[in-house]
Amino acid sequence: MREDRPVRYDDDRRCWDVFRYDDVDRILDDPETFSSDPRLASAIDLPPEEEQSPILETMLTTDGDRHDRLRGVVEDWFRPRAIAERAGRFEAIAADLLDDAIDGGRMDLVDDFAYPFPVIVIAELLGVPSEDRPQFRRWSETLVETPTDTSDDAMEAFQRRQQQASEELADYFEAKLDARAREPRDDLISVIAEAAGADRLTGEEALGFCMLLLVAGNITTTNLVGNAMRCLTAHPEAMERVRTGDVAMESTIEEVLRYRSPVQALARVATRDVELRGMDIEEGDTVVPWLGAANRDPSVFESPEQFRVDRAPNPHFGFGRGTHYCLGAPLARMEARIGLRALFDRAADIRRVGEQLQPVRSAFIYGVEEFPIE
Ligand code: HEM
Repeated sequence: MREDRPVRYDDDRRCWDVFRYDDVDRILDDPETFSSDPRLASAIDLPPEEEQSPILETMLTTDGDRHDRLRGVVEDWFRPRAIAERAGRFEAIAADLLDDAIDGGRMDLVDDFAYPFPVIVIAELLGVPSEDRPQFRRWSETLVETPTDTSDDAMEAFQRRQQQASEELADYFEAKLDARAREPRDDLISVIAEAAGADRLTGEEALGFCMLLLVAGNITTTNLVGNAMRCLTAHPEAMERVRTGDVAMESTIEEVLRYRSPVQALARVATRDVELRGMDIEEGDTVVPWLGAANRDPSVFESPEQFRVDRAPNPHFGFGRGTHYCLGAPLARMEARIGLRALFDRAADIRRVGEQLQPVRSAFIYGVEEFPIE
């Protein structure tokens, strides 16, 4: 596809797919032409404004000054140095989880570790009890789900599920924001509540903020850790090099982000008529830059189908690019480093068990539901 039809229109999904590195780069680098606001799309029927989820009022779905204002509220919290100060606490969380998980030498990497680990971390940063995590999982999974059956009935049920998850999540955070507005603590919800109190955020934006931070960093980081182990168990020689320190954990994680990108695709909307590789994209058209395809573009990556833990340079799009570049990238990288190191420290030899792997039910998230190891 990247070779033969690098930019193509899909009639069923009513969007343009873009596969080549240079084209993906151009789209992500030009937010004025390729907006992140799904409300501008002509092919999407959104519910009336009063029924829309606050998750549409976030930095992820806005552009320009509004985006920068929203991102500015929490940016300092996510800087590498600020995240690094919490490393000790993250290590303790990983150790506790693994002590509980490893049972008779076997565990499910996803359920027992890769899922709860980032949820506990973000719950602590936000300041919500991590015991609520079964609910977080249900809400997050519903919100990133993409419909597989596009019949009217299935779509209606899908939209109802999304609406319900979004309302429940909004109610949950509304109560927490109120509590922190009255009694601030050293956590992200307090920062958000304070910005709302000082009129730097609307009530909807404050809610959207909490929802985004909870959802954006969970399934993605779960799949980074899961995909990393999937790559390493499939390449034992690479696992050995990482384990013994012959190759840096950092470059290994970058290669996983390229080779098995947890986020495969993004969505943008054209704000004007624009030509891309000879194709006429019209204002209001949805454009899908495929990060996963660009990350294997041979014009940028030598032998892109090979998993090379020491690949350098590695200018992948795993965390996106441009103004919307992942806010949580330093946190996700640190979680992956700590998580993998903790796994290596506990098991001298990690192997995959079982044959069948079930992919995550989402068209743009890449990973598996379960990954038993021993
Ligand atoms: C944005 C990937 C972890 C918070 C993004 C984008 C990507 C991405 C591709 C760009 C979206 C776009 O351009 O439309 C990932 C991956 C992760 C991860 C692969 C884990 C491996 C996290 C974590 C957090 C987080 C841990 C925070 C808790 C965000 C936020 C944005 C974002 C808030 C929106 C930034 C903006 O619009 O300015 N992420 N992410 N992510 N990510 Fe992540």
